[in-house]
Amino acid sequence: MTKPDILMPYRLLPIAEDELQKRFTVHKLHEAEDREKVLAEVGSKVRGVALGFGPFNQALLEHLPNLEIVAGFGVGYDHIDVPACLAAQVMVTHTPDVLNEEVADTAIGLMIMAIRELGQAEQWVRDGHWAAKKPYPITAATLRGRTLGIFGLGRIGKAIAKRAEAFGLDVHYHGRTKQDGVTYPYHATLTGLAEACDTLMVVAPGGPSTHHAVNAEVLNALGSDGVVINVGRGSVIDEAALITALEDGTIYGAGLDVFEDEPNVPEALLALPKVTVLPHVGSASQATRNAMAMLVANNIRNWFETGAAITPVPEMGK
Ligand code: NAP
Ligand code: 8YV
Repeated sequence: MTKPDILMPYRLLPIAEDELQKRFTVHKLHEAEDREKVLAEVGSKVRGVALGFGPFNQALLEHLPNLEIVAGFGVGYDHIDVPACLAAQVMVTHTPDVLNEEVADTAIGLMIMAIRELGQAEQWVRDGHWAAKKPYPITAATLRGRTLGIFGLGRIGKAIAKRAEAFGLDVHYHGRTKQDGVTYPYHATLTGLAEACDTLMVVAPGGPSTHHAVNAEVLNALGSDGVVINVGRGSVIDEAALITALEDGTIYGAGLDVFEDEPNVPEALLALPKVTVLPHVGSASQATRNAMAMLVANNIRNWFETGAAITPVPEMGK
């Protein structure tokens, strides 16, 4: 029996590339010298796309008239044109759950780094200031007594909330709907959540419905002790408004793993003393990235073996 043809437009992890190569005819576009030439040659044969670190858009879709499934790498799928896939009756999958605990760990680490200036303190040691007998300045901010407002109490948000409780923080949240089985206070608006807390944890997805949801009004409501942590998507925060709020003391500090124009981080943000930045590493341990990559491969395998995907994006329905 002929093996279905799978397109790999970008690098994926070796564990998943090997798995796919056992069962499918894999076309590694990311290794091709002339991507357009390869697409012209194999595009009409391709039935599945295994995404790695890159987007899937209408332009790529148009090269693939017999496509059945796009398996996305990552739980967030704002880099995949889902409406275009729906219109073409192409299944779209993502990688939920396997990264919840890893991203929650990163979120808590980033929050403590930002509030207690741990990155800056480490740099102090590396720069020789400690050895020169200059202690790192006592931090004005503390985690003690803080109220954590979680914007997006979903799979990862709940894992963060559980950890925050263990750290003695009060937890509140905002989303479009009040969650069942959760006792944390719910706020119907994001501004309402910001008014009730001093630490805002953003873990909502990207896309049009959350674009710049964290704006000047929300930052103003957070107040001068306020710290914003973002492990969701850069597009959820109005970065220019955030920079202004940090510069003029409207809020105290920020810890950011995601940015509006990755991998570019505005110089104005880097120049601010109470800002901690990470290069989008929320899920980036080998074990978790392998689990995500294997879910990409297994979604494709399941699709061609049983006709069903394991983790379709919600827009695909049941
Ligand atoms: P999830 O389970 O779908 O949770 C998302 C939460 O956001 C839900 O509680 C949802 O509640 C809320 N939400 C969605 N759209 C909203 C809107 N328009 N307004 C207000 N609230 C909204 O997703 P997850 O698995 O926790 O992942 C969340 C996001 O984290 C991903 O989409 C991704 O962008 C990001 N992420 C980042 C990293 C990283 O490396 N930094 C790693 C993994 C994930 P309602 O439906 O009630 O609104
Ligand atoms: C990945 C993420 O690093 O899952 C997500 O939504 O943001 C991260 O886990 C990213 O998707 C890889 O491109």
